[in-house]
Amino acid sequence: MTTVREWQWPAAIVEQMADGLVEQGFYLAEDAVPHELCLALLAEVEHLNQVGEMRKAGIGRGDELQIQREIRRDKIKWLDGSSAAQQAYLQGMARLQSELNRALFLGLFEYEAHFALYQPGDFYKKHRDSFKGRANRILTTVLYLNPEWDSQWGGELVLFPDDESDTKVLAQYTPKIGRLAIFMSETVPHEVLPTQQARVSIAGWFRLNTSLGGQIDPAK
Ligand code: OGA
Ligand code: MN
Repeated sequence: MTTVREWQWPAAIVEQMADGLVEQGFYLAEDAVPHELCLALLAEVEHLNQVGEMRKAGIGRGDELQIQREIRRDKIKWLDGSSAAQQAYLQGMARLQSELNRALFLGLFEYEAHFALYQPGDFYKKHRDSFKGRANRILTTVLYLNPEWDSQWGGELVLFPDDESDTKVLAQYTPKIGRLAIFMSETVPHEVLPTQQARVSIAGWFRLNTSLGGQIDPAK
């Protein structure tokens, strides 16, 4: 069992994230989370998969699995703080939440996250994580856990402009260990390109207080 220590955000990283979010709506932080913690989280996903706890993800409530499979093929499990590694990660994200609130006055209230496993051939087509009016997901984060990633393996995260008629690529990120992508949930459509190797990440969302929205939470 790997030991897991509390970790600090590298100096200046939060400031850079805040600037990136304000100026362009997204940011990629390299080595944001210690590799040691990433590896402990990766081992947990491998175990969860072996014992059948990683489950096919849905898109919204009530959709047919067949339709969903045309859009996304990953298997997920929501974090519940049931391991030391999850606790360390969630504590780090709670610290990030308060620092981003201090820097950007976003009123972020809580963080929810799931492990995601994309097996060879899996993808997630272009989508948004939140829709205007229903929005209580404000910021999306994606942490990558694979210790190695060959550029030939695909599986990149691709970010697009808010204007759907503009197919220009804003950014394309290789899913390398320790990298944390952060972007505005409502205005940054994005896609996971088909992967050729097992690809493991933690997708998460900073949200507003659910009870203020007066809407049922989006499923996921
Ligand atoms: C998601 C998502 C991106 C990634 O789970 O909504 O877009 O790179 N994930 O894993
Ligand atoms: Mn997404």
